[in-house]
Amino acid sequence: MKTIPYAIQWIDQKDIRSVTKILKSNFLTQGPTVELFDRAVAKCCDAKYAVSVANGTAALHLACLAAGIQSGDEVITSPISFVASANCVLYCGGKPIFADIREDTINIDPAEIEKKITGKTKAIIPVDFAGQPADLKKIYEIAQKNKLLLIEDASHALGATYEGTKIGSGRFADMTTLSFHAVKHITTAEGGAVVMNNDHFYKKLLRLRTHGITRDPNQLTGNDGGWYYEMQDLGFNYRLTDMQCALGLSQLPKLNKFLKRRREIAAAYNKAFSRYDEVRFLPDAPQVRSAQHIYVLMFKRNKFSVPRKTIFEEYRRQGILVNVHYIPIYYQPFYQKLGYARGSCPNAENYYEETVTLPLFPKMSTADVKRVIAVTEKIIQQYRKVRS
Ligand SMILES: Cc1ncc(COP(=O)(O)O)c(C=O)c1O
Repeated sequence: MKTIPYAIQWIDQKDIRSVTKILKSNFLTQGPTVELFDRAVAKCCDAKYAVSVANGTAALHLACLAAGIQSGDEVITSPISFVASANCVLYCGGKPIFADIREDTINIDPAEIEKKITGKTKAIIPVDFAGQPADLKKIYEIAQKNKLLLIEDASHALGATYEGTKIGSGRFADMTTLSFHAVKHITTAEGGAVVMNNDHFYKKLLRLRTHGITRDPNQLTGNDGGWYYEMQDLGFNYRLTDMQCALGLSQLPKLNKFLKRRREIAAAYNKAFSRYDEVRFLPDAPQVRSAQHIYVLMFKRNKFSVPRKTIFEEYRRQGILVNVHYIPIYYQPFYQKLGYARGSCPNAENYYEETVTLPLFPKMSTADVKRVIAVTEKIIQQYRKVRS
């Protein structure tokens, strides 16, 4: 039986040629392709600057450092995300604070954010879950009113729009982070970026991704000669290679084609599943255009005679390699040991019990989409509670 993964990259001959060209050149790392990719990413997001980094986690870490997050600071984020959205705060010595999600969009709830703000809060990290932008306008207003920075985790949302503006444009965020992991909208294998308009953050991020070092004559405090550089911050080696940037440069022009196919597949799923009261999916809120990174289908607990685990296993038995996004971050043993209590975000916890991520990737054939729909319909019919 042919299996269908929940996500997979799409690499074509042009991508392979682009990377091969770098392999035959003098620069595998730290060459001119990095800057070209940075500029292309910024342009794609309608932003002034982009700083590419080794992965989306590094992007979040450096954005938090550039924001000045340190020991004693609190940063509010969503519990329904990959662990990196909160870990980045811990890396800086800060404390992640989880605000519950909205039941309908599974994005962080602005009203819950407001409840969690204290004198220690320094920033908010909303996550554009599944590709659908969070309530950015409201959250940015809350951030500005309380003098907090907004770092948007848009790992799922390259190509999404909010009120017609592109994610990453800086209209509703101080910094936006992206991931170019293999399952994302475009890939550099591993990779990520921070996108922004602010000169200060830009210069700081350029230093932080390379050990905190600068050679920029405008930033140096001295100059011993042509070799001279200064380490001005404690940075990291978080650089992306020229090879990866070449792949990114060849992938970026295909973003719109990829998005179009993702949206077609999501629309086909929505149409098929809207006939069933037993399941629900994410609505497309009027002010946003989702980048459809993942497709989550929620199996309402009171409508099924079996737990989500049984449904998950049934998909897998049928060769549909579904996934679950996400386990609430504070359920993780590491967070439990830090004292985060279960029960603190009821909407997130309820969502976790009901959700299954169906396959969605641009290379997916129409026959595969139909197969996923057919298996889903069979599962609904097989496991739904019989009305008495
Ligand atoms: C919401 C979110 N944030 C951050 C990351 C981290 O990105 P990366 O895997 O590129 O480090 C991911 C990766 O899956 C993610 O989904």
